[in-house]
Amino acid sequence: MTSEDTAQESFKEPKKWRMHHLAMAKQAGRKLTMITAYDALTAPIFEEAGVDMILVGDSYGNVQLGYGSTIPVLMEDMERATAAVARCVNRPIVVADLPFGAYEANSQVAFDNAVRLIRVGANAVKLEGGAEVAHTVALLTQAGIPVVGHLGFTPQSENALGGPRMQGRGEAKQKMIDDALALQAAGAVAIVLELVPAPVAKAVTDALHVPTIGIGAGPDTDGQVLVWADMAGMYEWVPSFVKKFTNLRESLKDAVSAYTEEVKDGSFPGPDHYKTN
Ligand code: KIV
Repeated sequence: MTSEDTAQESFKEPKKWRMHHLAMAKQAGRKLTMITAYDALTAPIFEEAGVDMILVGDSYGNVQLGYGSTIPVLMEDMERATAAVARCVNRPIVVADLPFGAYEANSQVAFDNAVRLIRVGANAVKLEGGAEVAHTVALLTQAGIPVVGHLGFTPQSENALGGPRMQGRGEAKQKMIDDALALQAAGAVAIVLELVPAPVAKAVTDALHVPTIGIGAGPDTDGQVLVWADMAGMYEWVPSFVKKFTNLRESLKDAVSAYTEEVKDGSFPGPDHYKTN
C-alpha cells in the first residue's frame, strides 16, 4: 500500500457534499469530480453516477441555447438552469456561474446577482478572474456565499484573450500563482484552471490549500471538470483535452432514425403500445 492509498482511505465519502469537504478531499489526495448540467433531465443522472459537484456553467449558452460563446448568457438564463438542476439533486455541490456582466462592475452588483443564484438553489457561485476580483470574492464570502474562482482561459474574456488559447506560459505562470493565492486569501473554496499547461497547473495546485479543478490543465489538478455534452459525445468535434466517454450523438440519432422508419412503415406503434378497449 502506498502513502497515497492511505491518504485516500482517510477521506470519508460524504453523504452530502459541503464546502469544507473540498479542502479535506484535497488534503487526502481524493480527486474531485465535477461535470456541467443545465436541466432536470441530466442532473439527476449525473448525481446517480456519483459526481461530487455539478457546475451550472454559462457554457449553457453554447450547449443549450445555441450561442457561439458564453457572452450573451443572461442572469435570467442562469437562474432558470440553476433552479432546474438544484430542484433535482441532493448530494453534489451545485455551483452556478455568474454570467458575463453580472459581477465585474462592482461588488454590490456581484452580491445582488449571486443572491439570485443562491436563492434558486445554488450552493456556490463561480466567477472568472484573478486578483482584480478578489475584493468581490471576499465580499461574497463574508456574506455567506461560497465562491469558486476561474483562472487560465476565461471564456467571458475571449474577445480580450484572442479566443480559446493556453494561458500561464512563461512569465504569466507567476501571475497565475499570485492570482490563485489572492483568490484563496479572499475565501475562494476552489479554483477552476482552464487551458493551462500541466506543469503550471501543478505549480498553482501545489501553492494552494484549496483544490484546483482542471479542464485542459493536465493530470495534477485536484479534480477535473468537463462539459457533459463534450464528454458524452454529443458533438462530432471536441477540443483535444476532452475524452468522449460514450457516443450519445450516434445512439440518439440511431434511435430517432429507427423511430421515424417504424412510424413510416407502420411497425410502430405495435400491439404492445396500444390498447384495444
Ligand atoms: O461554463 C462552463 O462550463 C465552465 C467550465 C468550462 C469550467 O466554466
